[in-house]
Amino acid sequence: MYVCLEGIDGSGKSTQLAMLGEWLETCGLEVFRVFEPTESPPGLLIREMLTDSKATTPHIQRILGLLFAADRMILMDKIRNAEKQGQIVISDRSFYSSLAYQDDPEWILEINRYIKKPDLVILLDVDAKKALSRFEGKDHFENPKFLKKVRENYLELAQKNNFLVVNANNGVRKVHEDIKIILSPRIGRCV
Ligand SMILES: Nc1ncnc2c1ncn2[C@@H]1O[C@H](COP(=O)(O)OP(=O)(O)OP(=O)(O)O)[C@@H](O)[C@H]1O
Ligand SMILES: [Mg+2]
Repeated sequence: MYVCLEGIDGSGKSTQLAMLGEWLETCGLEVFRVFEPTESPPGLLIREMLTDSKATTPHIQRILGLLFAADRMILMDKIRNAEKQGQIVISDRSFYSSLAYQDDPEWILEINRYIKKPDLVILLDVDAKKALSRFEGKDHFENPKFLKKVRENYLELAQKNNFLVVNANNGVRKVHEDIKIILSPRIGRCV
């Protein structure tokens, strides 16, 4: 099973992935953790390019789109392998992030046509201003208007693709409990 946490910057994906991984392990599952972009060569290039605050031109966005798709193609084998070994795969972002953040969804779908899609997506839905307030004092490039648009894109994707939506305006523990409630019947453990 391949489970993915999605949501805008500051929605709590990394925080919740860490808690989720630990919980699944206490339930006796072997956990394979994925963080997009990964540490493959294209993934490392993406990470470097994202540190540039001027990386928002359409041209560079398209280059990033292609690199993300390549990174996922490389990742696919690792996910398949983990699943073969009976591990549960939990992922911080997936190809749905490209759809939510980038323009031209038809093109994003096309270049991601052969990648493996998550079995289950949990959307951590949070108000854009609240999410940004969590980065106060830290370097952060996104602005409230852009994140608001990305949030709307996510909510639209959630409708179309049956994501499970969790209210991520709540505190860390409450969000974790809500994720557990969603997952436990689906993994048949820790119910
Ligand atoms: N539910 C919450 N309530 C308050 N603060 C939170 C909550 N979840 C996470 N945080 C804090 O908000 C900040 C961002 O959280 P986190 O890094 O988990 O978000 P993220 O979705 O992974 O963001 P990014 O997309 O930028 O990687 C961290 O400082 C984290 O401790
Ligand atoms: Mg994160």
